[in-house]
Amino acid sequence: MLAHAGVDTLLAEIVRINPLQSSFIESSLEGATPDEVNDLSRYISFCERNSLDIPYLAECYDLIVKDTLREQFYFQRHQRYRYSTFAEVADSVYFDNDYMSKYMHGLAITAWLWPNHREMHRYFARKIPTTEKGTYLEVGPGHGVYMMTAMNLSAYDRFEGIDLSPTSVEMTRALLASHEETHRAVYEIYCSDFLEDELHQKRYDAIVMGEVLEHVEEPLIFLQKIRELAADDAFIFITTPINAPAVDHIYLFQSYKDIEELVVQSGLSVRESQLIPYPGESIDESLEQCLPVNVALVLKN
Ligand SMILES: C[S@@+](CC[C@H](N)C(=O)[O-])C[C@H]1O[C@@H](n2cnc3c(N)ncnc32)[C@H](O)[C@@H]1O
Repeated sequence: MLAHAGVDTLLAEIVRINPLQSSFIESSLEGATPDEVNDLSRYISFCERNSLDIPYLAECYDLIVKDTLREQFYFQRHQRYRYSTFAEVADSVYFDNDYMSKYMHGLAITAWLWPNHREMHRYFARKIPTTEKGTYLEVGPGHGVYMMTAMNLSAYDRFEGIDLSPTSVEMTRALLASHEETHRAVYEIYCSDFLEDELHQKRYDAIVMGEVLEHVEEPLIFLQKIRELAADDAFIFITTPINAPAVDHIYLFQSYKDIEELVVQSGLSVRESQLIPYPGESIDESLEQCLPVNVALVLKN
């Protein structure tokens, strides 16, 4: 029996609209802590307060599952992602409000239901400094879940987010505004491309960029910009996957070495890292079969 009716109802609805999901969904929360189940339940309540009901959330989750599966088939056949330029995906993903809203709500739900995404979020929660002061910047907050976690766990005085999708900006603002814990925090979310110099500060004490590098044509420039913006000894946290096809993934990392080399080329270096295998496989097995491996990095400048 699950702890919360909203969670139960969501899982049942996901299986109702896509019975192929039943065995995965039945065990999806087995490794989750009571706090994580409670956080998912709060996320569902937040959506319901914003007139997004459980059938809609189940559709969002189903969209990401089906899109990912379709792209995995393409990837296995061609050993490359379907698209390689921003122009090919921008209008149908980032600037299509209906699609982006479903995609981001679906992705947010995977942070609780998918063991690899859950592990990545846990790693972030363990690594974010809890007593440091200063300004926190998040690039591409998307659904806003990581930014909310940062506000809940850290002691930064000011939080800024930058995302080029108007839908992501609205979703992040709504999520942050909904949480009592974040009411004390000063925050601002800009709707802009990270490379377009819209930021208000020259230096940041924390820079977080989750699942963005694989969405851009030139990830090196993003890392170089992060290095320029990072204050001495800033907390820099980045995630990006290896061999992980998705509708809008345009830059393919095929190994951990690919990522590390780019980090070093940018002038940053790896302080700590965690590689998270495809559910049910080891890291070696995932890499051998070209299955997705999630990579989380704490960097230093
Ligand atoms: C897959 S989502 C990541 C959401 C969240 N950070 C996470 O880790 O799950 C990628 C986000 O990055 C944003 N994004 C992509 N390219 C960007 C750019 N050049 N500047 C700012 N945001 C960008 C997208 O609009 C989207 O909201």
